Amino acid sequence: MQKRRHRRTIAGSAWHRLRRDVVLESRPFHVFTELTTSCNLRCVMCPRTAATDSLEGLDMPVEVLRRLDSELFPDAVLVELNGVGDSPLMKRWGEVLEVIERHAFVPLLTTNGLMLDERTVEVFARREGILRISIDGATRGTYEAVRVNGDFDQLRRKLALVREVRARHADSGMTVEFSFVAMRRNIRELPALVELAREFGVDEILVQNMVAVLPEHQAWSLTHTPVLANYLFVRAKLLAERYGIHLYLPPLFDAPGADRKRSWLGSLEPRTLRTDRILKKGLAPGAVLCPEPWMTMNVQRDGTVTPCCVSAQPMGSIHREPLRAIWNNEEYRQIRKELSGQAPLRNPTCRNCHFLRGNARAALFKEDPEVLRERVRALQATLADKDRHIQNIESVLRENYIEL
Ligand SMILES: C[S@@+](CC[C@H](N)C(=O)[O-])C[C@H]1O[C@@H](n2cnc3c(N)ncnc32)[C@H](O)[C@@H]1O
Ligand code: SF4
Repeated sequence: MQKRRHRRTIAGSAWHRLRRDVVLESRPFHVFTELTTSCNLRCVMCPRTAATDSLEGLDMPVEVLRRLDSELFPDAVLVELNGVGDSPLMKRWGEVLEVIERHAFVPLLTTNGLMLDERTVEVFARREGILRISIDGATRGTYEAVRVNGDFDQLRRKLALVREVRARHADSGMTVEFSFVAMRRNIRELPALVELAREFGVDEILVQNMVAVLPEHQAWSLTHTPVLANYLFVRAKLLAERYGIHLYLPPLFDAPGADRKRSWLGSLEPRTLRTDRILKKGLAPGAVLCPEPWMTMNVQRDGTVTPCCVSAQPMGSIHREPLRAIWNNEEYRQIRKELSGQAPLRNPTCRNCHFLRGNARAALFKEDPEVLRERVRALQATLADKDRHIQNIESVLRENYIEL
C-alpha cells in the first residue's frame, strides 16, 4: 500500500518535471534533515572541524521534528538523517527512531558509526534502511590520524554489531555502506578497505575525492598523485568485483594510461568537458538541468528550508509557513523556472553547483509526449522491481528521463 503511494509520488513528481511545471501537486519525496551539530570526532578534512563558529550540541528543536513528522514524512520515500554532526548523538535520537518506525520511508544515516547501538541498527534492519558508515582508513594508524578522537577497535566492534543484527534479519533489505574520503594519506589503503568491507558484509563502498575546505588541505588532494590514485582505484575495483561489492569511484584522473572514455570504474563518468561546452552554449529550450526542486526538501536544524543539500539559499522557514505552502511558494516557483529554462539561470549557488554541471547533459533532452508517457511507464516498472534500491531513485530517474 505504502509502496504504491511511493511510486505514485515519484511518478507524479517526474511527470511535473517533464512538463516543466512550477506549481506541483506531488509532494517532496527526498528529504534531508539536519538533526544535530554535535560530534564526537574532529576529522581533519571536515568542514565542521574547520568551522570558526561553535557548533557544539545544537539539536533540532522538538517542534521542528514534530512538523517534519506530521507534514513531510508521510509522503517521503527517502529521508537522509544528517547534517554536519553525527545524528545518533542527538539527545532525542530515541524519539527520532520512534518517528522512523511510524513511517514507510527509507531512512538513510551517514555516520562515523562509533555511537551506533543495537536499537538503532535494529530499526534500520526492520525499516530496510541504509547505514552509511564513514571510514577513511583500513588500519588503525591511518583511520585514527584522519578521524581524530576515533577508535579503530571501537569501530570494528560496531561493524561486528551491524553484521550480527543483520544476520538476525536475514531477509531484511537493509543496505550497509562504507563512505571513504580519498586523500594522499589514505589512498593506499583502498584495496584493504575492500577486504574490510568483505569481512563485515558491507554491500557498497562510496569513494569521494576530498573537497579542500581550507587552503592547507589542497596539499592532501589526489590531484598531486594522479597515476598512483588511478592505479589504486583499478586495483580496488578489481578486488571489489571479485567479492561482489559495489565500489563507486570518482572518474579517473587525467594521467598516462587512463582510458577515460571506456572507463568501467565508477558510476560517475567524466563528462565535465562536454558539460562545460553545453553550459557555454546556453541551455536548450525544454531543459531540466537539475531535478532537486521537483523532488527534494532540505530542512535545516533551525527550520530553514533549502532546495537541496548543496544550496544554502532559503526557500522559507517552517516557523512562518506550513511546509506544504513553502513547496509551491514564490521562491520554489522561481528556482523551478530557472532550472527548466523558463527564466535565465541567475541563482548563484545553482550556477556553480558541480551536480548541476554534471547534469547539464539534460540540455540535450527532447520533449515528445508519447516518449514521455512511455518513460513514465518504464519508470514505474523499474521502481516496482527496485524497492530495495530506493536510494538509486535519482539515478533511475536520470536514466529514464534524461537523454545522455
Ligand atoms: C560531514 S559528515 C556528517 C556525517 C557523519 N558525522 C560522518 O562522519 O559520516 C558527511 C560525510 O562527509 C564526508 N566528508 C567530511 N569532510 C569531507 C571533505 N572535506 N570532502 C569530502 N567529504 C567529506 C564524511 O566523511 C562523511 O561521509
Ligand atoms: S565524524 Fe563526521 S561530522 Fe564529525 S568531524 Fe568527522 S566527518 Fe565531520
